[in-house]
Amino acid sequence: MSTVPQKAALEAGLAPDKTLTIVLFGPPGSGKGTQAEHLCKQFQLPHIATGDLFRENLKNQTELGKLAKTYMDRGELVPDDVTVRMVRERLSRGDADRGFIMDGFPRTVAQAQALDELMKELGRQIDVVLSIVVSDEEIVNRLSGRIICRECQTPFHKIYNPFKQCPFNKCSGEHLYQRDDDKPETVRARLNTFHTQTAPLMDYYRQAGLLVEIDGEGKVEEVTRRMMDAIQQVLKI
Ligand code: AP5
Repeated sequence: MSTVPQKAALEAGLAPDKTLTIVLFGPPGSGKGTQAEHLCKQFQLPHIATGDLFRENLKNQTELGKLAKTYMDRGELVPDDVTVRMVRERLSRGDADRGFIMDGFPRTVAQAQALDELMKELGRQIDVVLSIVVSDEEIVNRLSGRIICRECQTPFHKIYNPFKQCPFNKCSGEHLYQRDDDKPETVRARLNTFHTQTAPLMDYYRQAGLLVEIDGEGKVEEVTRRMMDAIQQVLKI
């Protein structure tokens, strides 16, 4: 089959008989949330982001949310057992039958092993781990200008990706705010946590033959295009 019809098939979305499970991996501010929004729309899959789930819990003042905040404010990881329990509960909601876009999980080898177990229980497998590569310098630029919608969690950027309209046509930008953990000192701590605890996970997925590295610098649409090309190769369509 030639490449052009293959691309067209992918751009038309996911065939009804296909499933697709993608893990988005990358440092804070690398664009996981931004790209997840595009991929979820494209493939009509749920976006499962552990950071968003913690923030949702915090908004609802649950014990889990209050506990998570103590770690998030320091730029540290929430303990594995708590995080894995939350992901297990999320995956049991029944909207992920055709797959999902996982963002921000796993972040440790223990979490990756737990996800393997969960996938086995569901009779499914991860199709690809897309690792978004962005320099630390660019990350600091991105996070210092990031603004987020409190209602739908969509990330924008004051300069690079300003709010033009709500992707869900629900608001006019009145819920935008800056995250507490985007303060420069917390960003530095989050980057340190990524390099020491999360980056080693790349070897885990490289050895599993699932890792594809994506250059995460350049325009949002260019990064999306690189991701779509990688997904096309993995799905062999
Ligand atoms: P989480 O919310 O997951 O944060 P993160 O991984 O640090 O990632 P971010 O949400 O900050 O960035 P992103 O990669 O989604 O980038 P975005 O698309 O917004 O986690 C927060 C905390 O929760 C953690 O620190 C930890 O405490 C806890 N936690 C979460 N998961 C956990 C787990 N599994 N285990 C334990 N603890 C956990 O983009 C960033 C900015 O850049 C935006 O302004 C965007 O508009 C802009 N941008 C995006 N792409 C581009 C581009 N190509 N060019 C220019 N600008 C761009």
